[in-house]
Amino acid sequence: MIEKRQLGNKGPEVGCLGYGAMALEGYYGAVDEADAIATIQHALDLGMDFIDSADAYGEGHNELLIAKAIKARRDDAFICTKFGIVYDANDAGTDMETGWGVSLRINGAPGYVKKSLQLSRSRLGVDVIDLWYAHYPDPSIPIEDTVGAMAECVQAGDVRYLGLCNVSAEEVRRANEVHPIAAVQFEYSLWRREVETTLLPTLRELGIALIPWSPLGGGFLTGEVKQLAADDFRHNNPRYAGANLDINRDRFAPLMQLAKDFRITPAQLALSWLLHQGEDIIPVPGTRKAERLDENAASANVQLDAETLEQIDRIAPAGLAEGATLV
Ligand SMILES: NC(=O)c1ccc[n+]([C@@H]2O[C@H](COP(=O)([O-])OP(=O)(O)OC[C@H]3O[C@@H](n4cnc5c(N)ncnc54)[C@H](OP(=O)(O)O)[C@@H]3O)[C@@H](O)[C@H]2O)c1
Repeated sequence: MIEKRQLGNKGPEVGCLGYGAMALEGYYGAVDEADAIATIQHALDLGMDFIDSADAYGEGHNELLIAKAIKARRDDAFICTKFGIVYDANDAGTDMETGWGVSLRINGAPGYVKKSLQLSRSRLGVDVIDLWYAHYPDPSIPIEDTVGAMAECVQAGDVRYLGLCNVSAEEVRRANEVHPIAAVQFEYSLWRREVETTLLPTLRELGIALIPWSPLGGGFLTGEVKQLAADDFRHNNPRYAGANLDINRDRFAPLMQLAKDFRITPAQLALSWLLHQGEDIIPVPGTRKAERLDENAASANVQLDAETLEQIDRIAPAGLAEGATLV
């Protein structure tokens, strides 16, 4: 079992590496349902109990899948899900450009907050959601109103802890005044490091955990991405598009070589590096494959000394990757 970490300065202990279940919705290619359930259960067996989902992943399907996987073992899992990306065409919201050439519809209105919670609880088959995030701040609703409605769900006993995703430091402060925020998700990895200066200092001041999403750069940092299938959603990501993929491969080649020198995989180097950035950091790597969970879990045992961490800073400084980011 992997070691535990505290979720923020007031939260419970959870596995130091979570499991990102978005990969089970076909964004990286098809997944058989029995394999998907077995993968979630294997994550639990390894102590990767911090299971990350969202109502929008597979338009509700991801939560249904998790329900099947945890049915007989609810107490082994710490269930995290999100609301706010509108996935039902009948629902209103504010359209937002993401920087990936696709737009998202966001709804953080109190009525939508309450409705989303009941749908997620029902699909997950749980009375209480352990950690519930707003997936994006709604540009047309003050964050205080969204978090106020989320806080009422905590008071009603339907949610244990609140989280936010893809927010600024200022939005975190405002939200935290309304109700304590346990965790904030933002993209963070060796190919996207700006949170180190924009968000992390505020989270540390307020005692909030940072949950890096796409901790493997959506797969790039594993060194295993050769050619994307036609239906792979990473075609939307400018870092994978056109000439950028080759440019990024060249720029990150020394990092891949470093992993080889240490006789670990590039995925293990990327995850271990994140774990070394602070005890308040709990990455949620995703995979469709149970055997890759073993590989990723083993990164919790990799020790990087100060000299190596400095070497990584020189090889992969902030801003190294070519191509725009999401948000
Ligand atoms: N809050 C947000 O806005 C937000 C946004 C994006 C993601 N997330 C969360 O973050 C989680 C992880 O992000 P992500 O899926 O975007 O990216 P990721 O975890 O950085 O990378 C996932 C990709 O890496 C591959 N992979 C994983 N382990 C590997 C290994 N050991 N060797 C080789 N390849 C490996 C997977 O392929 P295989 O399936 O083939 O193994 C998959 O293509 C998601 O599941 C989701 O829960 C949140």
